[in-house]
Amino acid sequence: MANKKSGFFSHQTLEKNIGWMIIASILVVSFAGLVQIVPLFFQHSTTQPVAGVEPYSALRLMGRDVYIREGCVGCHSQQVRVLAAEVQRYGSYSIAAESVFDHPFLWGSKRTGPDLARVGERYSDDWHRIHLRDPRKVVPESNMPAYPWLEKTVITGENVSDRMRALRKLGVPYSDEEIAGAPKAIEGKTEEDALVAYLQGLGVGVRKAKQAEQAKKAEEAKKAVQSATQPAAQSAAPAAAGG
Ligand code: HEC
Repeated sequence: MANKKSGFFSHQTLEKNIGWMIIASILVVSFAGLVQIVPLFFQHSTTQPVAGVEPYSALRLMGRDVYIREGCVGCHSQQVRVLAAEVQRYGSYSIAAESVFDHPFLWGSKRTGPDLARVGERYSDDWHRIHLRDPRKVVPESNMPAYPWLEKTVITGENVSDRMRALRKLGVPYSDEEIAGAPKAIEGKTEEDALVAYLQGLGVGVRKAKQAEQAKKAEEAKKAVQSATQPAAQSAAPAAAGG
């Protein structure tokens, strides 16, 4: 076996030759990468927003930037996994099409605190304000840091239109009017206002769209039952009369 002759196109060439090994590895990994990654650019499930997902308003966009700057993503994920326990606790699991307007996405990978993908409208604005200024006031055992300066810092949003223009280049469909009106929309707002607006929007659009869809389906099912039973009653009547 050991002295079996092998030509150039054998595994031995690779095993004994680190240069060829590196080249072959790069080829394999590149090809596998292309096969896995390239289709994602063309799939609707990853490129089209799911019903209920809208581009962030100017205020929410600034809030998102505060969220990034303060490193909230280091303790909070924004991705509900498909596990039953997670769905029961947070709500429907996250899908890629929810993140099409997120540049960069904030899925996170660490949960010192709870997942926030569905936190919108779970608490009042006031709850969030108190919580951000001093988390221990509402959750005594919390180890989340306090962010009291957000309340006192007015957004310096003179470049908000530039941010929206940059996002538009990445495919977020902001209209010219939205971009032009952005500085006015955030005028006089504090960073806390922006962050609370951002948090209160998380997961809400998707949930409402889902509820509307379910209500529509229930309505259709009701109608289908009605139309299935009514003609039967009508057609039974003449038959009875005739007989
Ligand atoms: C050191 C880790 C840490 C950081 C950083 C952090 N948090 Fe938290 N957060 C927690 C923990 C732990 C909890 C759970 C206890 C509580 O409610 O305070 C929590 C809870 C929350 C909740 C309530 C979630 C729920 O479903 O009850 C919100 C909202 C929140 N954090 C927002 C933020 C925001 C916004 C930031 C950034 C400005 C941030 N957190 C930064 C650890 C952190």
